[in-house]
Amino acid sequence: MRSPGRKQEAAMREDMLDRLVEKLTLEQKIRLLTGSTTWRTAAEEAIGLREMVCSDGPAGVRGEAWDERRTSALLPSASALGAAWDDQLLFDLGGLLASEAVLKGVDIVLAPNLNLHRSPLGGRHFECFSEDPELTGRTGAALIRGIQEHGVAATAKHFVANDSETDRLHADVRVGEQALREVYLAPFEAAVEAGVWLTMAGYNSVDGTTMTAHPLLSTPLKTEWAFDGVAVSDWAAVRTAEQPARSALDLAMPGPRSPWADGLVRAVEEGRVPPAAVDDKVRRILRLAARVGAIEERRRRRPTMRTREVRLLLRRAVAAGTVLVRNEKILPLDHGTLSTVAVIGEHAASPRVQGGGSAGVFPSAVVTPLDGIRAQLRGRGRVVYAPGPTPHVPPPPLGTDRCTDPRSGEPGVLLRCLDAAGRELYAERRLSGRQLEPEEVPGAHTVEISALLRPETAGAWTFGMGGFGRMTLSVDGEAVLDGTYACETDDPALVHVTPHLHTAQAHLEKEHPVLLVARRQLASGTGRATVVAAAPPRRDRADALARAVDVARDADAVIVVVGTTEHSETEGYDRADLSLGRHQDDLVRAVAAANPRTVAVVNSGGPVELPWRAEVGALLLSWFSGQEAGAGLADVLFGRSEPGGRLPTTWAASLADAPVTHTRPVDGRLDYAEGLHIGYRAWLREAREPAYWFGHGLGYTTWEYVHVDAPERTETGVPFTVRVTLRNTGERPGREVVQVYLARPDSAVERPAQWLAGYAAVHADAGRSVTAEVVVTPRALRHWSCGEGAWRTEPGPYRLMVGRSAGATEWEGTVTATA
Ligand code: BGC
Repeated sequence: MRSPGRKQEAAMREDMLDRLVEKLTLEQKIRLLTGSTTWRTAAEEAIGLREMVCSDGPAGVRGEAWDERRTSALLPSASALGAAWDDQLLFDLGGLLASEAVLKGVDIVLAPNLNLHRSPLGGRHFECFSEDPELTGRTGAALIRGIQEHGVAATAKHFVANDSETDRLHADVRVGEQALREVYLAPFEAAVEAGVWLTMAGYNSVDGTTMTAHPLLSTPLKTEWAFDGVAVSDWAAVRTAEQPARSALDLAMPGPRSPWADGLVRAVEEGRVPPAAVDDKVRRILRLAARVGAIEERRRRRPTMRTREVRLLLRRAVAAGTVLVRNEKILPLDHGTLSTVAVIGEHAASPRVQGGGSAGVFPSAVVTPLDGIRAQLRGRGRVVYAPGPTPHVPPPPLGTDRCTDPRSGEPGVLLRCLDAAGRELYAERRLSGRQLEPEEVPGAHTVEISALLRPETAGAWTFGMGGFGRMTLSVDGEAVLDGTYACETDDPALVHVTPHLHTAQAHLEKEHPVLLVARRQLASGTGRATVVAAAPPRRDRADALARAVDVARDADAVIVVVGTTEHSETEGYDRADLSLGRHQDDLVRAVAAANPRTVAVVNSGGPVELPWRAEVGALLLSWFSGQEAGAGLADVLFGRSEPGGRLPTTWAASLADAPVTHTRPVDGRLDYAEGLHIGYRAWLREAREPAYWFGHGLGYTTWEYVHVDAPERTETGVPFTVRVTLRNTGERPGREVVQVYLARPDSAVERPAQWLAGYAAVHADAGRSVTAEVVVTPRALRHWSCGEGAWRTEPGPYRLMVGRSAGATEWEGTVTATA
């Protein structure tokens, strides 16, 4: 007997779903529409449905717990992946996420984030792929396919226009219909085309309606695009019962409490919410369950990747996303000619490998740039490290490096829960001073984190405590913090994950251990996080700078690593500026002046100002590049890999130059007054010159664009191909990302100055030619007609440009669209 085809299978599944929906009472149906816990959907024994487990995403799969002992593979953050312009890599990384999900019993990965780099200040910039909808859509679609290929669900989030953090729960984004369709919705449309199984409605409103109750969930999402998956709310984004229930939202997370949990049964019985609306939501949730194997699951899935494979893929991903924006014949470094390499900057030894907020995971180990460089020079050359001046950042959470559990003497801290009388209810050694656990200890009144800290230096140590409510922190019995800290925000990321740190100083003696005891009273509305942090005395600035300069002067090459912090690039806040701070800028300048063979490496999730960029020999943008950060970076530095990245976002020389920066709502409204014109589109329109264009990035070889073969005419609605023949004119094999842009200067409708229509990457050995085939889909020519409420394609000529970035055109022609 032949097995049923895909269509037949889908039809059988739909019949089964109908039968299951019919079996449920109204109460049972409505129970399915709200999560059963923070991360789980509800189960229903009557139909053999188990709970489905969700996890953030997107830089790794954390699982259900915020527990530093449950480690996860940590990918480069999304801006680094957007820089790869590489569908296959994203597909493979999707497979890695799925493998991690299976390992952790996760069915639904809350990724990818398809919001755009509208303003460089956006706090979650690191978590989004690009400023361009085409690159974002294609990159996201590849990741989604890679995840779902293995029966794990992906989630396109946050639908829609959720592109900055200031007042993110309440901001009402005002955006014109054309910009909404062509720019902000476009990546979600691509995700639906890729078959995504969930879409997450954001916290924000658009044009006055909160996204969890927005008509956009219905049209275009479910009707025009035929999305057959689940529209899930962002966490706690459902604030009223009926409006979201009448709209096309399907699932309110988290649970068990949500405005849907109560009230909705009555609303249906009293006719305010149609039963058919409830049935449709239930059917979608069951369809998702069937897809991930949560209905009558037959066998346990197995992870598909082994640790070694994971590490190699992540290392490859680091190099693939690293962008070389300047190279004065310094890179790649040649092992053979180096006897001493200076590595400089605190980020070289303590890199930022991920951004802050809900996306955070706990990697089992991180290869720092210093580790990576040392590994590559082992047995060949000497590495000398100087951290330079101490950056101005809050102290990091206590860790296993200098703390021990006072009870067992083992590395880490002691976490306890106490009742109101101070009796111990629970105690456990943990590895970090940042704790969101234990989630539920009956009768718990106070969380306590204590540790013996052994100071490696004498002087004024900085201590920090984060959390809300009544808190005390003592050092050897002496209170350094004691107060009640009100929770002034309802943003879950700030309340539960990254609360503000309060700091104080205390003098410590070298190698003389002190007992730290931090207590926080648990009261409703004070969140789950308790953070205890400590940092050694600041280095004397002049001495630290002088030491770095000495080390640089005596070296054959210098690698200076500077960057941002988890505190400046995080969910819940937007950035106030793009500066790396005077200490870091002075450091780069000083070492570059001391040694022209200086490579600067920028460790940030989004654009930063690089006022010294013309003073360094080479400049690499390494992003927040995950657990293999240093291994992949060293591969690039020493030429084992090419720096594969091309900028997914235009970098301004200074914030003041950037055309779109505002992220602060006025009277609750955030006006996207720039319309279609964000990113390079805005820079081109305003004829401004950035530091580095969208699409820019150098490899280790050179290319000649020899010939372009593009059609002169194209029929509306039919794709066409641009064939670009290139020759590798350098001495190494290389990869080039060929970019095709369109423009329509005489359009009757508003158009961007230029827009990305397609791209393709090619490889060629030294001296060889290769042809890139860039497919331009009909979508690239169309525009949204607000008058007609439909997509239209203007007949007539379009400028067609082939280039290496939005600012560097190699060839230009015309293609005429015919009806
Ligand atoms: C974030 C989402 C995330 C969710 C669950 C929200 O605050 O906006 O991206 O998936 O929390 O952690």
